Amino acid sequence: MDTYKTIVTKRDSRSFTEQAIPEETVRRIVQAGRMAGSSKNVQPCRFVIIQDPEQKAAIAKCGDFAAWIPTAPLIVAVALTDVGTRGEFDAGRAAQNMMIAAWSEDLGSCPISMHHVECARDTLGLPEAWRVCIVVAFGYKSKPQQSIPQAARLPWDEYVRRDRW
Ligand SMILES: Cc1cc2nc3c(=O)[nH]c(=O)nc-3n(C[C@H](O)[C@H](O)[C@H](O)COP(=O)(O)O)c2cc1C
Repeated sequence: MDTYKTIVTKRDSRSFTEQAIPEETVRRIVQAGRMAGSSKNVQPCRFVIIQDPEQKAAIAKCGDFAAWIPTAPLIVAVALTDVGTRGEFDAGRAAQNMMIAAWSEDLGSCPISMHHVECARDTLGLPEAWRVCIVVAFGYKSKPQQSIPQAARLPWDEYVRRDRW
């Protein structure tokens, strides 16, 4: 898939097959996240690769809409510390890099909020100054992706302005 098509066709997936993800592919996905730029290059993120079934079940309990994530063969938690001023933006860039890299290899993914901050920090054993900004579930898709009209986006004219609001 060419780069533009990879980006604009990416939809979030919550239903995966049991097919394991090769370690080389896991490393390629995570490397794509590691190479994301950050404000002033402070690199405020660290990643925790989660594949142990017990850890997957435990981290699923830390989000209000995360009950489905243990079915994903791979979960990557993006941990963040407040060394910079644009940490959430930097974490988002890293997460999107990983999801696009995965999509280009036919892997679906979905970001998941960790509403219970202490739960996620304790489950992953993060140091005090760190928190889980987002986790991302990855896997080979078990359902055909939605067509783009179904995956609703606001109309272009509502979303985009030229020169002034
Ligand atoms: C910051 C963020 C947090 C999200 N949290 C959750 C979540 O907790 N659980 C979930 O199932 N989906 C979550 N999502 C996925 C969104 O629901 C999804 O991106 C949105 O519905 C658009 O999906 P689409 O690209 O397939 O159209 C989250 C997305 C983002 C960007």
